[in-house]
Amino acid sequence: MAVHGVGLLTRLPLCVQRRSRVQRPILRLFSCPGTVAADPRREEQPSGSAETGSEDKTPKKRFSEVQKERREQAQRTVLIHCPNKISEKKFLKYLSQHGPINNHFFYESYGLYAVVEFCQKESVDSLQNGTHTPSMSTEAVIPFRSRYFNLKLKNPSNQASEQSCIQCSNQLPPSSKKVFELLRCAESIDDQLNSLLKEFQLTEENTKLRYLTCSLVEDIAAAYFPDCTVRPFGSSVNTFGKLGCDLDMFLDLDEIGKLSAVKTAGNFLMEFQVKNVPSERIATQKILSVIGECLDHFGPGCVGVQKILNARCPLVRFSHQASGFQCDLTTNNRIALKSSELLYIYGALDSRVRALVFSVRCWARAHSLTSSIPGAWITNFSLTMIVIFFLQRRSPPILPTLDSLKNLAGAEDKCIIEGNNCTFIRDLNRIKPSGNTETLELLLKEFFEYFGNFAFNKNSINIRQGKEQNKPDSSPLYIQNPFETSLNISKNVSQSQLQKFVDLARESAWILQQEGKDRPSASSNQPWGLAALLLPSIANGMALAKKKGKKPANETVKNLLESLKSNSAENSTNTNRKRTTSP
Ligand code: CTP
Ligand code: MG
Repeated sequence: MAVHGVGLLTRLPLCVQRRSRVQRPILRLFSCPGTVAADPRREEQPSGSAETGSEDKTPKKRFSEVQKERREQAQRTVLIHCPNKISEKKFLKYLSQHGPINNHFFYESYGLYAVVEFCQKESVDSLQNGTHTPSMSTEAVIPFRSRYFNLKLKNPSNQASEQSCIQCSNQLPPSSKKVFELLRCAESIDDQLNSLLKEFQLTEENTKLRYLTCSLVEDIAAAYFPDCTVRPFGSSVNTFGKLGCDLDMFLDLDEIGKLSAVKTAGNFLMEFQVKNVPSERIATQKILSVIGECLDHFGPGCVGVQKILNARCPLVRFSHQASGFQCDLTTNNRIALKSSELLYIYGALDSRVRALVFSVRCWARAHSLTSSIPGAWITNFSLTMIVIFFLQRRSPPILPTLDSLKNLAGAEDKCIIEGNNCTFIRDLNRIKPSGNTETLELLLKEFFEYFGNFAFNKNSINIRQGKEQNKPDSSPLYIQNPFETSLNISKNVSQSQLQKFVDLARESAWILQQEGKDRPSASSNQPWGLAALLLPSIANGMALAKKKGKKPANETVKNLLESLKSNSAENSTNTNRKRTTSP
């Protein structure tokens, strides 16, 4: 994996302090479940961009290649709960009895854990053969031969004297305090967006842990379906995942079907005897129900198992304690895997895409526009679609439409799932880069202006065609599902949540306009640029004032925005000038 970029922490002494006119208290803004202060020793190893080669000239890997490699790595990997006091050297020597180790890392999550990747799969068998099932004096154990182990010290006092300082890899998002400090010290708004991306993107270790968790769940599901595959999808693999995001898994039983479809010579065709159920949905519910039971009763480290089988897309939700991931297991969800691949391609096409998406996601989270609890709020997936749509609308476009990716597809890319055409070009290297050179600063400002004034009441967002279309129904926010084109991915969003998004977008556009005016003379400790956008909203404060009989917040901000627009031509010239000096 390429490690690139200057370490963020090493940049701190060079920072220039800046001043903003917005002076509001810094709160804890990025609350992900379990967020704590980041480990200062955290390595800066981006996962997405390294794989897609988006920041250097190496050929970009296809989504399927990345998935295959990672999956194969995960199958050679084990997870070990370790004693807190351990000698790393002795630990590695002990494990090397079973075969050479390719790499390893430690992390903390209610205890110390090690992720160890062997060079060969046989080493895992050897380790399992040398492992015993514990016996309990008061409780009974369910014997289960997994790749999740517990390591005990035979003689703790001996090891304690030799223990080395173990470097733990961080698996958590940075604290708000750290983020504000980084943003305050950045050199430009472009630099701020890129810093935020580096801080929040999944690390190499976190990505490995995600694939390993899927692989461990696959071992459990294989008790029923020996040829099944559990694949991660969603933000864990589409390069838009933030540290702390959930782990979406897809139980793929298609390989089983494929084996039985192998053509045989002669006059006979052999089929498995199977049970029939009235519909695909019922089959999905039955399969997930049994896997849910299995995870609950026998899955080491799987806790809080919930079977949510009546949802549009039935799923089993559980916590994987050792990795700390909140997992959603679905099956028969091949289209979602295809959308993950599409987003992976969009994320890899231009380095500005992920930076802008991460900032918009952090902005939305900071203002509680998104939530980890399902409800009437906008989702991260919808936000990503909105940003992609916006980038398709630039002149010249930064991202191609899905229809143009479909037109570039070859015969080998053809993909029809449940009657939906999911064809698009999968070889990233054959897509022409955009000629657009706009800065992230300009894009961020125009993103907020664009959606602060978007006709959500009559238009839908459609990344397939890259243009607004009339809304087919009265949902407040309509974002067409790129593959199941009759579905709206943001059907859940209420009018009031949409209004909140619009108000905040207008306010943010206004703040950035102000920023453009006075930033050069800045010299205080106050948050500026992107950091100012992450602070509690003025509009929220004004909404409270409205209750007390004052002017509506959105009207005020809209008026301000409109009055500022007349000056925007002049400001954009300034922005363009700054662009050439941005790193
Ligand atoms: N998905 C979809 N239609 C929806 C919601 C989700 O097709 N209405 C698919 C998308 O491929 C999405 C995946 O399911 O990426 C996982 O959904 P979710 O976890 O909600 O979104 P993520 O993209 O994973 O974002 P987050 O980081 O918030 O988990
Ligand atoms: Mg997700």
